[in-house]
Amino acid sequence: MSPFDSRADALSHRQSGATSGRHARGGRPAQAVGRLFGIGVGPGDPELLTLKALRLLRASAVVAYYAGPKKRGNAYTTVAEYLRPDQILLPLVYPVTGRIPAPPFDYEGTMRRFYDSAAELVAGHLAAGRDVATLCEGDPFFYGSFMYLHDRLAGRFRAEVVPGVCSVVASAAALGTPLVYRDQSLLVLAGTLPEAELTRRLREADAAAIMKLGSNFEKVRRVLVRLGLAERALYVERASMQGERILPLADIDPATVPYFSMLLLPGEAWQGR
Ligand SMILES: C[S@@+](CC[C@H](N)C(=O)[O-])C[C@H]1O[C@@H](n2cnc3c(N)ncnc32)[C@H](O)[C@@H]1O
Repeated sequence: MSPFDSRADALSHRQSGATSGRHARGGRPAQAVGRLFGIGVGPGDPELLTLKALRLLRASAVVAYYAGPKKRGNAYTTVAEYLRPDQILLPLVYPVTGRIPAPPFDYEGTMRRFYDSAAELVAGHLAAGRDVATLCEGDPFFYGSFMYLHDRLAGRFRAEVVPGVCSVVASAAALGTPLVYRDQSLLVLAGTLPEAELTRRLREADAAAIMKLGSNFEKVRRVLVRLGLAERALYVERASMQGERILPLADIDPATVPYFSMLLLPGEAWQGR
């Protein structure tokens, strides 16, 4: 269980039968509650939104999105052109972005409290009968912050997820590289892992995607060089977004690596044809 989870709370709601509450106790009709949508908006190109995402996004009274302080966030920017002027915008502003402050700062407690209060903000709209479309970069259930809302609210309200084009496949498309052939396996890693763990896992990989680079880039590059994988590694930042950049591994200045970047180690091409 992730340290940010309130899954135990969600489960206890489910078990107590507190779901969408179509009828209040005694058979009287209860107030209609809204639905929670996790909308995968894809990797950044507004044309990579699915038709279903677009329909539900435009039909929802409330549009919630995660963002840094004084920022709109990539998910919001991706769909901004599709929003209606009468939709209620609900920014969920992260208390911490970028480099995590060192202890004694309680990062995990801070984030848990943030997701708790974000869930209550969203719950207020749902309880009042308003559908809430929560935007999520790529796919909501693939490292998406929407998961923390889902963990807290899916036991209390109707929740639906619209899958999105995830950044791994968008990066492969941007790099023009097939990712996995036939019986190869794809390893997906977060660059935040310790160096020894990255080394251990990558040693056995047929193909890999390494996400969450940013300040972890230098460590990841060291591992790839040590394992003799640097020649195979392909780097892209902001795949499909404005400002997409593809660079050879050796030319990358670690100080400029953004959070929205990825390294791919494609599987070896099948020679059978
Ligand atoms: C919290 S994860 C979110 C993943 C997202 N839910 C998905 O399905 O792609 C954030 C990481 O996704 C990757 N990422 C997301 N969008 C990207 C893009 N357009 N180009 C390159 N990497 C991207 C980066 O590695 C970033 O650190």
